[in-house]
Parts: sequence; C-alpha cells; structure tokens
Amino acid sequence: MNLVYENLYQVSTYVPPIDLSFNQYLLKGEQPLLVHTGSAQQAPLLLSKLIEELGEQKLSFIFISHFESDECGGLSLILKEYPEAIVLCSEITKRQFDGFGIEINAKVVKPNDTFASDSYELEFISYPSEMHLWEGLLVFERKRRIFFSSDLMMNFGKSEGQVLKRDWHLEVEHISEMQVPDSEKRALLKETLLKLNPAFIATGHGPCLDLQKENISEKLREVIQTPPDAAFTIITTGKAGAHAVNSWNSYIRISKNQELLVPVGRMHQTEENLRANSEVMLTISNREVQGLSYKGTGFLIQGHANMVTSGENYDLIKENSPWARAALVISISSLEQTL
Ligand SMILES: [Fe+2]
Ligand SMILES: [Fe+2]
Repeated sequence: MNLVYENLYQVSTYVPPIDLSFNQYLLKGEQPLLVHTGSAQQAPLLLSKLIEELGEQKLSFIFISHFESDECGGLSLILKEYPEAIVLCSEITKRQFDGFGIEINAKVVKPNDTFASDSYELEFISYPSEMHLWEGLLVFERKRRIFFSSDLMMNFGKSEGQVLKRDWHLEVEHISEMQVPDSEKRALLKETLLKLNPAFIATGHGPCLDLQKENISEKLREVIQTPPDAAFTIITTGKAGAHAVNSWNSYIRISKNQELLVPVGRMHQTEENLRANSEVMLTISNREVQGLSYKGTGFLIQGHANMVTSGENYDLIKENSPWARAALVISISSLEQTL
C-alpha cells in the first residue's frame, strides 16, 4: 500500500481502456477504516494488501459513499475476511445491499452526522450525484482534515500514489453539472464544502490533492513592500503557449488566507487562460532587499489563481486600486527564494 498522508494508505488500480485509476484507502488506527472496496475484480488485490498492512489487526469499519460497483462491488469478498466490519453508508445504499441480498452489518448515517473512534472523527456530507440523484455520502475526517471526495473531485490517468498541490476553493469552484447535475443541490453542496478546511483530498479517481498552503515569508513581504517600486511578472499557459503579464509590487495585497491579491485592469488573456488552467508562475524581485548573498533578492512562486469580482478579497484590492475590475487571487503552492 502507498502511504499518501498521515496514517492514510492507498491501493490504486489503473484500467487502461477508460484511462482511469480506482483508489481505495485504509485509515490506520485503533479501529481501522476502509474507504471503498473497489469492484469485484479489483477487490482481491485490495484484500491481499489489507491483510499485509493490518497483520493481526481486524478491519473495524468500511465507508461506502454510494452503491456502485467501483465503490462497493468488492464488499462481499472483503467481508469474508473481515466479517465483523461495520459498513457506514446512507439509508438508500443500505436498501440496495438488502435488495441485492448482500448481508452486511450496517450503521446507517445521515448528512451532518458525526462518528468518532479513538483515532479519527468522521463527518458525513450529502452527495447528490449518483444515478437518479439518490443521496450518497461524502466523508470528512476532522483530526487529519482529510476529505474523501469519491467521484466528486477526480482526474483521469494512471495515478497510483501520486499527490498534487491544489487549492481547496478552486477545487470546489470547479464542481460542475458533470458531477452534480441538479443546480440547486450543487450550489448547496459547494456552500457546505466551503465551510470545511481540509488539508488533503483522498480522491476516488486520479491523484490525491495536497491543499496545504505555503506561508508568505517575511522576506517576500519585504520584497513586496520595500520602495522603490518594481514590476513583477505573472505567467499563465493557454492554447497559444505561455503568456506573461506585468504588474507593480506595491499593488499586491495579502489576504487573510495567505494568498497574493493583484488588481486586474485588463489581463484578458490571463483571464482566458485561467479558465482552462489555474496554474500560475510568478517572478518578483527587489534590488533594495538583502538577499541570500548580497543586496537584491527575488522569488519564483508557483500556485493556482482565479479572479473574483466580489467578497473580501475584492474589497481589499478596491481600497487601493479603485480602478480594478477584479482581484486576481493567487494561492501559493511553492515559494523559492532565488537570489
Ligand atoms: Fe461512483
Ligand atoms: Fe467511482
């Protein structure tokens, strides 16, 4: 099993014809929790890895987001080895198990319910995505701040053990009708998710997502705030390749979530590029600030960005740059002092 986060182990199977990876997770602790079983074809591999990882320990709980083959098709096999395991699922999912004659010890849980063991604390969230909009569940583990996203936040490709840096707000913003077709339920889900503060997304398909932010260092603040003013560069990527745009250091504001805020005057190409690809790169420097070996320093910054036209980040930008049509919000995933 691949250790992808604190106490969190992943088994992943890649299926080439559909270019998709199927991930299951074991959260180790006093009462080990399995998240999804994979399909009947995937379960033998999962089971052998579970036995290896757990040794003498028994599996205590299995969380099933919704009744579909890749989330629970392997349940019968897993339960043969671990018959005492209790299945955490929604009322509707339980009804499907009953209807298919699959015998389980179920603990039916509802959205907003919580469930704590010695080593983790689960919070269940409504997931109105599956066929017929039957209510499934998502789960958030509060102690380590892990969000298990099932099919909600997913990517294609072979991704075993992979972890990418991402931003929570952008991930939530990108939930579309593909994932949750009902617009009212989608809006409500987004609102609920934005109240969480996860550090890690354990996805059902595709790479896991690390949401931890880099703190803005004192040195970078000095570079931004020390006169005389200098230009910095923002690079995005679009269909026509890389696109660079400049702004002034003194225009930058820092949000309370440690994001860089930049006023948007024109930046139309940047805006278009960000719609398809939120990744940005920045270079910023200041000749008057002490660097690693001489006076003058600079940073290479990587992150994800979006534009906002309302809310506190926009208000903060408007205070100093009343001409701004939007605020560019850059959340930093890596920060390197280059000089
Ligand atoms: Fe599914
Ligand atoms: Fe799935």
